[in-house]
Amino acid sequence: MSNKMWGGRFASATDAAMEAINASIGFDQRLYAEDIAGSKAHAAMLVATGILDDKDGDTIVQGLDAILSQIEAGEFTFSTALEDIHMNIEARLAELVGPAAGRLHTARSRNDQVATDFRLHIRNFLDRLDSALARLQWELAQKAFAHHATVMPGFTHLQAAQPVTFGHHLLAYVEMVARDRGRLRDARRRLNESPLGAAALAGTSFAIDRDMTAEALGFDRPMANSLDAVSDRDFVLETLSALSILAGHLSRLAEEMVIWSSAQFGFITLSDAWTTGSSIMPQKRNPDAAELVRAKTGRINGALMTLLTVMKGLPLAYSKDMQEDKEPAFDALDAAELSVAAMTGMVADMEPHPERMRAAAGAGYATATDLADWLVRALALPFREAHHVTGRLVKLASDSGRELHELTLEEMQSVDPRITAAVFDVLSVEASVASRTSYGGTAPDNVRRAAQDWLARLGEDGMAPAQV
Ligand code: ARG
Repeated sequence: MSNKMWGGRFASATDAAMEAINASIGFDQRLYAEDIAGSKAHAAMLVATGILDDKDGDTIVQGLDAILSQIEAGEFTFSTALEDIHMNIEARLAELVGPAAGRLHTARSRNDQVATDFRLHIRNFLDRLDSALARLQWELAQKAFAHHATVMPGFTHLQAAQPVTFGHHLLAYVEMVARDRGRLRDARRRLNESPLGAAALAGTSFAIDRDMTAEALGFDRPMANSLDAVSDRDFVLETLSALSILAGHLSRLAEEMVIWSSAQFGFITLSDAWTTGSSIMPQKRNPDAAELVRAKTGRINGALMTLLTVMKGLPLAYSKDMQEDKEPAFDALDAAELSVAAMTGMVADMEPHPERMRAAAGAGYATATDLADWLVRALALPFREAHHVTGRLVKLASDSGRELHELTLEEMQSVDPRITAAVFDVLSVEASVASRTSYGGTAPDNVRRAAQDWLARLGEDGMAPAQV
């Protein structure tokens, strides 16, 4: 039997492998709600423009509502022979309401239909993700506020470099996530135009009202060029690009959590809710969620590469290649949403250990820069000379297995006789962080204010404390 939706000119059935390669229903069924919303908007417009009579319009809309309920109740059987979500729904509509169903596809094509569905789907996702990211920022800012004065080692090359506060470190991620949200909002703004009414590629000879369907579906305006409307997937690419950058940020924080929660660091303990045990080593408490957030980046970046590759060199307008946009994109959206949820939970639950952080911050000559700065300020040494003197003091201390503050004044003066006892005031990690008062620096006062600002901003953004 030839396909009942398009089989008019076909004499025999398609090959089984053709059906398998052609079908998208296995994954595009998740567009059902958007597909039905698009069809309802289209039907209402056809009625308003006199292309469809009221009676058929009502029949179609009722049928579509019935199908929506059936799908949501799990009572809808999706058929691979019907290829995709669009034809599955249309065929069901015909079963339910008879010949009126055949009028719904007037002045449209699956090409503008799928582009519309996918834009709506990504828009819904972006709105959900934006709230989820606000919540992640909220949890980070809460912890940052609580730990605005908790001293930890700041690292370069993963070597202790200068002391910072834990709050400052967490707020760095709040800033990154703010830019991620900005990128995703930009993507949303550009994608919010309606392809519906572009039809197969050239527009339609029917006197349709594209503004009406655009408005009904919450789009800002109809897309201006019918070829563009059905043939580009840049809105997916933009979303995946922004998600790849977000995933990169999340993976860095995840990696830090893996490091921080190791026995060697012991900076934080992750909660039972976000760790697993080992079936053989009873002492283990593995940061699986953090590792998986770190790893999910691979799928998200992969989806971006997949779609960039699929789209490259496609002639306008629609080609079936573009059906390959959905699986990787859906997978990436799921991975991103799950990663943000896991990260939010881990951050909310994690228990920092300030004493471990403090001890590590004091080790490894982390206040050497403070000593050099003191030599510049108190003794008016040029910074390069101060750097050299400090290097000799670090060597003196390390040769005898001590920290800088454990040197005696006499020993210091053996390197430079002008050094006074006042130097000891800058060698503590607390003095070090407290002195970093430059804008954006790690001084606890700065960090407290920055955390408060973020909490206030996120609070105005709808992130009320009650939601925490
Ligand atoms: N399932 C198709 C897709 O996802 C819908 C569009 C089909 N259009 C076509 N001309 N065959 O791209």
